[in-house]
Amino acid sequence: MKITVIGAGNVGATCADVLAHKELVKDVILLDIKEGMAEGKALDMWQAAAIENYDTRVTGVTNDYEATAGSSVVVITSGIPRKPGMSRDDLISTNAKIVKDVTENAVKYSPDAKIIVVANPLDVMTYTACLASGKDTRSVFGMAGILDTARFKAFIATALNCSPKDVQTLLMGGHGDTMVPLPRYTTVSGIPLTDLMDKETIDAIVDRTRKGGGELVKLMGTSAWYAPGAAAAQMAESIIRDQHRTFPVCVGLKGEYGIHDIFLGVPVKLGLNGIEEIIEVELTDDEKKLLDESANAVKGVMGILDDMKFFSNKC
Ligand code: NAI
Ligand code: 2OP
Repeated sequence: MKITVIGAGNVGATCADVLAHKELVKDVILLDIKEGMAEGKALDMWQAAAIENYDTRVTGVTNDYEATAGSSVVVITSGIPRKPGMSRDDLISTNAKIVKDVTENAVKYSPDAKIIVVANPLDVMTYTACLASGKDTRSVFGMAGILDTARFKAFIATALNCSPKDVQTLLMGGHGDTMVPLPRYTTVSGIPLTDLMDKETIDAIVDRTRKGGGELVKLMGTSAWYAPGAAAAQMAESIIRDQHRTFPVCVGLKGEYGIHDIFLGVPVKLGLNGIEEIIEVELTDDEKKLLDESANAVKGVMGILDDMKFFSNKC
């Protein structure tokens, strides 16, 4: 089996590195448009294999889609990242062209691949890839929820001085400031978060989670890559190993949660068939209102893509 990672920048290279360490497949193809970049990073990873004891071979290529042929999973990280002061939505025109182009090329050589989109603005780039691929919404989906819940878990673990491994949580909505962390669905080894923390502390953590990407952009001058790369690799693992793990994933909704034709983060089961199931949890009126606001925000940005008239099909 083979996995292709498109974009050998910060997130793509990290994702390929995590995939190699997991020894999920024999071959990972790392593809970039910048001459030599993917080849160099892949060679460096192959030299690390002797130290870290993995057999997966990461091969770097410059725009050579033939080398990606027959991939089971394609991860799309190609696109420009945010700079300080930019919102994820500011990236739309540049990244939509890139995502359209790379998706069309990837699907030509790997028609059966499941596609994991990482490029921002995430929800709308997932929509873009779905349209460009001509595939159904169960085969093309986006990574954001695993990253956003990981941030939520990290902040909770810091505040409670507990292990992040013991924090279980759920977060829904778009990958932006309107995302909806759900403290009511959060526990530490089964103990409700609301029993462990006062409301003021929970609210502050929810707020920090919503702004978690921006916090890192401010610190580093570009967006994060360790957790995003690991999150995309975890989705690939659940598909390749048919684990049916339950994660929040960005998926095109067809009436679930009363939402139609909007790409949004909701809990799903991920397996060999891609989105095996969309899980509909009960939401309070307040939680549903926040989810609807988030859906409307994403719908607005999807409208910007529609106005560009790149596509005549629907998905
Ligand atoms: P980066 O700039 O380090 O890497 C992007 C790579 O894409 C570059 O190496 C560039 O040469 C390559 N690229 C550009 N056009 C291409 C094309 N047509 N074909 C192949 N490769 C091409 O950026 P980074 O930090 O890796 O971020 C990548 C994207 O992921 C950004 O849009 C960023 O906003 C997004 N992101 C999304 C997250 C999420 O939670 N969904 C989290 C973190 C980043
Ligand atoms: C992040 O959340 C910017 O989407 C990127 O780190």
